[in-house]
Amino acid sequence: MALCKILPFFFILCCSFTLISSQPFDYPTANLSTTWINSFSAPHSVDFTDGSIIRAILLRGTFGPRYACGFYCNGNCQSYLFAIFIVQTNSVSGITSPAIGFPQVVWSANRNNSVRINSTLQLTAEGDLVLRDADGTLAWSTNTAGKSVAGLSLTDEGNLVLFDSKNGTVWQSFEHPTDALVPGQKLVSGMKLTASVSTTNWTAGGLISLSATDDGLVGFVESNPPQTYFSRTIGGLNASRGSNYVVYLNGSLSLFSNSSSNSETLFSISRASSAQYMKLESDGHLKVYEWQSGWNEVDDLLTGFNGECYYPMVCGRYGICSRGQCSCPKSSSNSTTYFRQIDDRQGNLGCSEVTKLTCNPLNNHTFLDLQDVDYFAFKADISDTDLNTCKRACLEKCSCKAAFFRSGLNSSTGDCYLPSEIFSLANNEKDRTRYDSQTFIKVQEPEPAAHIPTTFLSGAILGSIIGSSILGIIIGIIVFIFWKKKRKANEDEEDYPDHVPGMSTRFSYDDLKAATENFTKKLGEGGFGSVFEGCLEDGTKIAVKCLEGIGQVKKSFLAEVETIGSIHHVNLVQLIGFCAEKSHRLLVYEFMSNGSLEKWIYHGKQEQILDWNCRKKIIQDVAKGLAYLHEECRQKILHLDIKPPNILLDEKLNAKLSDFGLAKLIDRNQSQVMTMMRGTPGYLAPEWLSGVITEKVDVYSFGIVILEILIGRRHFEASYTEEERIMLNLFRKKAEEGQLVDLIDKHSEDIQFYKEEVIKTMQIAAWCLQSDYTKRPSMSMVVKAMEGVLDVEKDLDYSFKPQAIPAIPNISFADSTPLLPSVLSGPR
Ligand SMILES: *[C@@H]1O[C@H](CO)[C@@H](O)[C@H](O)[C@H]1NC(C)=O
Ligand SMILES: *[C@@H]1O[C@H](CO)[C@@H](O)[C@H](O)[C@H]1NC(C)=O
Ligand SMILES: *[C@@H]1O[C@H](CO)[C@@H](O)[C@H](O)[C@H]1NC(C)=O
Ligand SMILES: *[C@@H]1O[C@H](CO)[C@@H](O)[C@H](O)[C@H]1NC(C)=O
Ligand SMILES: *[C@@H]1O[C@H](CO)[C@@H](O)[C@H](O)[C@H]1NC(C)=O
Ligand SMILES: *[C@@H]1O[C@H](CO)[C@@H](O)[C@H](O)[C@H]1NC(C)=O
Ligand SMILES: *[C@@H]1O[C@H](CO)[C@@H](O)[C@H](O)[C@H]1NC(C)=O
Ligand SMILES: *[C@@H]1O[C@H](CO)[C@@H](O)[C@H](O)[C@H]1NC(C)=O
Ligand SMILES: *[C@@H]1O[C@H](CO)[C@@H](O)[C@H](O)[C@H]1NC(C)=O
Ligand SMILES: *[C@@H]1O[C@H](CO)[C@@H](O)[C@H](O)[C@H]1NC(C)=O
Ligand SMILES: *[C@@H]1O[C@H](CO)[C@@H](O)[C@H](O)[C@H]1NC(C)=O
Repeated sequence: MALCKILPFFFILCCSFTLISSQPFDYPTANLSTTWINSFSAPHSVDFTDGSIIRAILLRGTFGPRYACGFYCNGNCQSYLFAIFIVQTNSVSGITSPAIGFPQVVWSANRNNSVRINSTLQLTAEGDLVLRDADGTLAWSTNTAGKSVAGLSLTDEGNLVLFDSKNGTVWQSFEHPTDALVPGQKLVSGMKLTASVSTTNWTAGGLISLSATDDGLVGFVESNPPQTYFSRTIGGLNASRGSNYVVYLNGSLSLFSNSSSNSETLFSISRASSAQYMKLESDGHLKVYEWQSGWNEVDDLLTGFNGECYYPMVCGRYGICSRGQCSCPKSSSNSTTYFRQIDDRQGNLGCSEVTKLTCNPLNNHTFLDLQDVDYFAFKADISDTDLNTCKRACLEKCSCKAAFFRSGLNSSTGDCYLPSEIFSLANNEKDRTRYDSQTFIKVQEPEPAAHIPTTFLSGAILGSIIGSSILGIIIGIIVFIFWKKKRKANEDEEDYPDHVPGMSTRFSYDDLKAATENFTKKLGEGGFGSVFEGCLEDGTKIAVKCLEGIGQVKKSFLAEVETIGSIHHVNLVQLIGFCAEKSHRLLVYEFMSNGSLEKWIYHGKQEQILDWNCRKKIIQDVAKGLAYLHEECRQKILHLDIKPPNILLDEKLNAKLSDFGLAKLIDRNQSQVMTMMRGTPGYLAPEWLSGVITEKVDVYSFGIVILEILIGRRHFEASYTEEERIMLNLFRKKAEEGQLVDLIDKHSEDIQFYKEEVIKTMQIAAWCLQSDYTKRPSMSMVVKAMEGVLDVEKDLDYSFKPQAIPAIPNISFADSTPLLPSVLSGPR
């Protein structure tokens, strides 16, 4: 039956498709009785390098960023959305797939009900727009049958419209917003945006919503009752209920009333020079993105009002956010642990109670008194009360999870908030001149373990204890035999548990062989060995580095791997695991889909030329990663080989440093030269000659990298004239002539617009390149200088010394920055 029904569609489709596909761009409308199939052979099907696929149905216009609608999937192409997205187009091939600039979804029909391959979208003869999965089940429909629909159209503004014969609107996507707004779109009072569960799971019903009300905009957590984390309301407008609306304009998000000409600006937004949209993210941020030869975040609207820590899930449930770092609530008076991090590696996943709160007549509840901790939401559940009444009210109310007390300064009475769910807490960074706030988190006293009443030792319990001991012994024997066997096979291996939370995973050599398809896809070769692309069973992409020059097992290998694995920073490539089996030593890293910076800065393909914002962001990212290694890690780590091949870019072109901490792994006896010559000529600081090694050698190498990024060339180009061959000589000359502007990368038009900023960044580079290492800034100073909150040193010395020749005498450590030998990642 189903087949008979579908077959005629195929026939219709074949005909209409040949018609449509002759037209690569501008097909913005469709007539009744049309069906589209989400199949591999569908027309206007485009694959992108981030793994997403679109099969466009309607496309409005040509040239540059354009709205289109159709089937969309992202990475996991088992499931598809029917969505409106912004894509890049040209007049020859229609939709293009640039190396960066993936489709941006601004609306979707079936977030909760994704469909598979061979699903169909049909505009029926009756005027209903219906999405069915491959097996025919209904996934979504506009329910517009019989409403005299005449056709379907995608407007210039990105609105999908079912119109009637008089060109009136019967149904439009603008009235059913999902998690995004496009310029020109209205959020009428009562409508709301609902964030997806996460960036990868697009199901609606994440926690966060943003709702337009009669007098503004309110962001809240969908708990019961809702907790407001953002509110921007305006009283000035005097309109009848239901007729106010928020509009996304060029330059602002404003509140309008349709009964008067009054309007109020809720937010200023960067004016759009190209396509723009805003999206309510699953973490509660409301971000504005703009196409600037790549999609860039241009505004983060709510943060200006709230601060980084005042988001409901910034540190997960019960997590305390302090300057972007997460921790769990602790008792200040004793050592009892009430909360633990859910995942040691990811503090932002939140904390769980060690003993769950229970409500019974004997409920042994007590409070953790958290100093200087605040909460994003507050509502006076009890007004004009005192602290003790507030706390008592929480103890008496089973559902109460915490007592928040806010009072006027130096006043003993105030308001009391008793929420029944706790999201992230914030270290009080807000202006505290307006009120005093006190926070008490309800916790369960752990039962004293030694006091189990003997009457509880009933037969059943006794039985189970005896039973489990016998079972324990049997398991013990099996484990022991297994261990003996394994021990025999790998006599030389150290004991190491396969996985301990917060530690790196140990992989077997066979696992990694399988994951990398027998080491076939080589990504590159570095100082420590080759790197291969791979994929774990769960689909996680990885990069596997096969270390060379590491002889027999060294006791320290595991310790060093553990150290490297424990370092987590967004601008450092994360070590996921390792393999130490027989003579194999492999390290498993997160996969960075856009490869190394090298590929991007030396005149790559035209579409790969990075614009100024992108370059600036990369410089900042690297500076932050390095600052972390130098100044924030528990052990100071010197990188000693900062250069573009060791700077990797993820799918969003975020830069991360790789290869830190590795120098220690190399066996000194085996590879004298390599150990001594750590670093790469051209990036080596002059003091290597005198053998004085401090973290400032990294600062120097970083200075060279900045220049390469800004100028768009290598530090040494043999094909250039003698005068220009060495970048640093050229830089000195242009600095002396006051003509640094000549150096700015000529391959990018965009960067020419930001000359002043680029030259300022060149001065930061010059600061990093000072011959006297004590004159160079620390990496945290570089981060601040890049942010413009710290001025570059005034009298810089531009007479850069010639490059160090790596014939290394005895290395010693400078007094000015004392280092413990064990914390040095380089030569020892
Ligand atoms: C829709 O129908 C009209 C009139 O029958 C026709 O001119 C037009 O080409 C059709 N449009 C499409 C997209 O098939
Ligand atoms: C989709 O339909 C085509 C044609 O009917 C069929 O050959 C193909 O196997 C189907 N694909 C899936 C994944 O069901
Ligand atoms: C139908 O209305 C839209 C705006 O709502 C307008 O852009 C379009 O030109 C109209 N089409 C016709 C055929 O009148
Ligand atoms: C997405 O989130 C929903 C709701 O939390 C959950 O039911 C679903 O399993 C998730 N899907 C995936 C693929 O993780
Ligand atoms: C999607 O599912 C979530 C629960 O998983 C629910 O809260 C939400 O209302 C649903 N959204 C739609 C549009 O059906
Ligand atoms: C708003 O309406 C009230 C009465 O409904 C009126 O007194 C007041 O003047 C109005 N304000 C403005 C700004 O129109
Ligand atoms: C304002 O909008 C509401 C709802 O959208 C509508 O009912 C009302 O008639 C409109 N008022 C005016 C004056 O346009
Ligand atoms: C937004 O405004 C700016 C400045 O007024 C203008 O240059 C730009 O073209 C506008 N953008 C759009 C998309 O209309
Ligand atoms: C630990 O401190 C809390 C208050 O911070 C108190 O209520 C509790 O009784 C103390 N527990 C022990 C075992 O001392
Ligand atoms: C509150 O008390 C402190 C000293 O206890 C005093 O310095 C401060 O001025 C007082 N603030 C107000 C608003 O009374
Ligand atoms: C409550 O706490 C007290 C003291 O910490 C302890 O003696 C008692 O056994 C606890 N009761 C329960 C039900 O945990």
